[in-house]
Amino acid sequence: MQQPRSRLRLGVNIDHVATIRNARGGPHPDPARAAEIVARCGGDGITVHLREDRRHIRDEDLARIQSATGLPINLEMAATDEMLEIALRHRPHAACIVPERREERTTEGGLDAAGLHNQLAPIVARLGEAGIRVSLFIAPDPRQIEAAMQLGAPVVEFHTGEYAHAEAGEAVAVELKRIADMAALAAKNGIEPHAGHGLTYDNVQPIAAIPQLAELNIGHYLIGEAIFCGLEASVRRMRDLMDAAR
Ligand code: PXP
Repeated sequence: MQQPRSRLRLGVNIDHVATIRNARGGPHPDPARAAEIVARCGGDGITVHLREDRRHIRDEDLARIQSATGLPINLEMAATDEMLEIALRHRPHAACIVPERREERTTEGGLDAAGLHNQLAPIVARLGEAGIRVSLFIAPDPRQIEAAMQLGAPVVEFHTGEYAHAEAGEAVAVELKRIADMAALAAKNGIEPHAGHGLTYDNVQPIAAIPQLAELNIGHYLIGEAIFCGLEASVRRMRDLMDAAR
């Protein structure tokens, strides 16, 4: 008999609620309110990226979001002493280490976990000792999985940007296969694979169908759709599409 597949978790990245708030400098729209809505309508976690330049959520938002919802918080963070100190103070459920460049519009590629081993090792260790589940945001590449294993990271999140931006047809199939193969490789080596970046209603289902993936983190598209149909409806629709693909 075929094993039932485990439920694929949906982490909703609410950074862009804060981006809209920050455009006017006041308190509205409040990302903590978005976190409450996500908890009510099928989201399994809240993802936020506290950037060095604080362009979306700010330090005080983190505590407010944590107390607004019982959902697990996944803090995306650069591998810096400042962010490590903040993570250790707030103790989110998970911390996803991402590459960060001030001039980029979004996280444009995966972390070079292989090249940055010495910088990452103490940060991964200290987060792990504090009971924070560490994930590394990497390209779907065997070298990076090997590096994650050497660092002892329990989770990797594959950057799906290349898949999301591939032109239709063969290029999409190539990227999809790369992610599927690397999800299998990570799982085989005891690392829980997640995925995210650039996922939409139109491209989420082939990714959601990859059996080893345990979590997708989706932000920009869901917040953009919420402008037209409301956050609850956009999260529910994504949830339904993910479930149907499983
Ligand atoms: N996962 C990680 C680690 C991210 O940094 C981001 C934002 O770039 C996302 C998921 C969500 O990406 P998007 O906003 O394109 O859905």
